[in-house]
Amino acid sequence: MIKKRIEIIPSVLSMDLACIKESLKMIPNSVNMLHLDVMDGHYVNNITFGPVFLRSMRRATRKKIDAHLMITNPDKYASDFMDCGADLISFHPETSSKPLKLIQQIKKRGVKAGLALNPDIPVKSILKYLPHVDYVLLMSVFPGFAGQEFIESVLEKIDYLKRERGRMKFAIEIDGGINNLTGRRSIERGAEWIVSGSYLFRGGSVQKNIERILYDA
Ligand code: DX5
Ligand code: ZN
Repeated sequence: MIKKRIEIIPSVLSMDLACIKESLKMIPNSVNMLHLDVMDGHYVNNITFGPVFLRSMRRATRKKIDAHLMITNPDKYASDFMDCGADLISFHPETSSKPLKLIQQIKKRGVKAGLALNPDIPVKSILKYLPHVDYVLLMSVFPGFAGQEFIESVLEKIDYLKRERGRMKFAIEIDGGINNLTGRRSIERGAEWIVSGSYLFRGGSVQKNIERILYDA
């Protein structure tokens, strides 16, 4: 199988949003994707970004925007995020009345579709969707807030996905509590897309922090 390249994906939630253009300038050219956490105050206890914000971001960057929908009705709202320029959309399967239909609708528009899995949801529960998705987002914290501690047991889900993947092409994304150590362990275990918020924007150079995830032990 072709080894997928590792993508470090900065999470917009941890950027200085009052100076979004300056924050975007801190992101090195090697970064291809940005992660946008969409929270509705209903599925999770926090409210963040909507389509209007995404549209502004779309104008401010050429990087791909990975919209992570933590909302109760993705069937209704996913198209708004696509209209505003999302390149990838993930949603939590339990929030959709017809997950497969939504995956197909997303892909039909040329947008990559992913399923996001909370730490307490068995990965086996999405087995039937795996041939259809472009990526699986494994949550390594409970969704809602940046800056939480990495849940180590989630790494076992990577083993399962790698076993099941065979000729399927989905990427494995991990999200929550990623720093140099947990990021490194996730990569070694087989995750390919690594979302990181607080760690990357904790100060100092974002490039250096990315390198610490990629190259430090
Ligand atoms: C949590 C979000 C994460 C979060 C990551 O609900 O889905 O994407 O922004 O932030 P850190 O890296 O600080 O855990
Ligand atoms: Zn996220």
